[in-house]
Amino acid sequence: MASNLTISRRALLVGLAAASITIAAFPALAAEALPAMTVTKDPSCGCCGAWVNHIRKAGFSIDVVESPEVNRLKVRLGVPQALASCHTAEIGGYVIEGHVPAEAIKRLLVEKPQGKGLAVPAMPVGSPGMEVEGVENDTYDVILFGPAGRRIFARYRGTQEV
Ligand code: CU
Ligand code: CU
Repeated sequence: MASNLTISRRALLVGLAAASITIAAFPALAAEALPAMTVTKDPSCGCCGAWVNHIRKAGFSIDVVESPEVNRLKVRLGVPQALASCHTAEIGGYVIEGHVPAEAIKRLLVEKPQGKGLAVPAMPVGSPGMEVEGVENDTYDVILFGPAGRRIFARYRGTQEV
């Protein structure tokens, strides 16, 4: 009995230590620490709404602006035409173009790299909001873009980083 107690107490302490390490390593991942997001989308875009649901589920609070003029916003925010997708979002001083996974946005907000924002160009199958039943997921890049150029920030298949 006494040894059982010792073991479970040790397990509890290890668990607590692991939990505090996780919190310390990812300070901006707590939902209350995430800045508010605004997404501008065409009112008739279905996949945009599905992406908004994905972002909300990940703990972001998000304002949706319905507008048929999303392309004008892209130009104003400096989204390169080659990286354009459907909806355009703004969060924490960054631009988020297209079906970018929530986890990549959280990493952006923690790492705060130089640049204008992240883009998933076009609409790859299997990116959040672009799931197509019976169709194999594409592998796609999340691109960090800005005045200094473009680089691959992350690579995903579905919502899994690869
Ligand atoms: Cu879309
Ligand atoms: Cu969209």
